[in-house]
Amino acid sequence: MNLILFGAPGAGKGTQSELLIKNLGMTQISTGDLFRAAIKGQTDLGKKAQEYMDKGQLVPDSIVIGMVEEVLKKGVNNFILDGFPRTVAQAEALDNLLNKMTLSIGKAIFLEVPMEILMDRLTGRRVCKNCGAVYHIVSKPTKTEGKCDNCGGEVVQRNDDKAEVIGTRLKNYQEFTSPLKEFYKKSGKYIQVDGNRDTAQVYTEIEKIIG
Ligand code: AP5
Repeated sequence: MNLILFGAPGAGKGTQSELLIKNLGMTQISTGDLFRAAIKGQTDLGKKAQEYMDKGQLVPDSIVIGMVEEVLKKGVNNFILDGFPRTVAQAEALDNLLNKMTLSIGKAIFLEVPMEILMDRLTGRRVCKNCGAVYHIVSKPTKTEGKCDNCGGEVVQRNDDKAEVIGTRLKNYQEFTSPLKEFYKKSGKYIQVDGNRDTAQVYTEIEKIIG
C-alpha cells in the first residue's frame, strides 16, 4: 500500500518511516530529505530550497511538486510520502500526478502530537551529518556524545531546529498543512494516530492500519 504520513514538524514522520522501511521494506519519499541531499550536493535546487528552509518557510509548491514528480516517474511502489503534500495545492497536484501514473494512495495517516511536546522534540533532535540517523538528547541519545551509533559520523542540530526558526515552522504548519486533515477526510483516506506515545506503540498502530 502507498501511504501519506503527515503531521506537524517533530510529529515523528521520519522516525515512523524508518521503521516502516526496516520492517516492511517500504520506500520513503521525504521531501525534506531530498532537499537536504540537494543542499549537501550544492545543486541549483538545493541552493533555492536552502533560502526557504533556513528561515523555516515552505519551499514554493511548483518546486516541490516538480521534484516529487521526478521521483514518482522512476516507478516507485509501496511508498510512504513523508512531508508531502504539505499544502492543499500540493495535495491536488499529487492527485493529478497519481491519476496520470495510475497509482493510488491507500491511507493518509495524520500523527497527532500536542504543540508543547513538538517544541521539546525539535529542540532536542540531533541528526547524523553522514547517514541522516535521527536522535534526541533525552529520549534517544547517542551512545557516545556527538557520534552516530550507526556510522560514527558527526551528530549535529539541524539549522531549522534552532528555537527561533521552529516558531515559523509551527506557524506555517497550522496555516498551510493542518487544512489537509479536511482534504483527506473528504477523500475517505484519513486516519488519525496518537503520536504522543512511545515510538513502538505508535508504530504498532500504523502497522495494524496498513494491515
Ligand atoms: P522536513 O524535513 O519534512 O521537516 P518537518 O516536516 O518539519 O518534519 P521533521 O523532520 O522536523 O519532523 P518529523 O515529523 O520527521 O519528526 P522526527 O521523526 O524526526 O522539512 C524541512 C523543511 O523542508 C520544511 O520546513 C520546508 O522548508 C521544506 N519542505 C519539506 N517538504 C516540503 C513541502 N512538501 N513543501 C514545502 N516545503 C517543504 O522526530 C523528531 C524528534 O522527536 C526526534 O528527535 C525523534 O527521535 C523524536 N521522536 C519521534 N517520535 C517520538 C516518540 N514517539 N516519542 C518521543 N520522541 C520521539
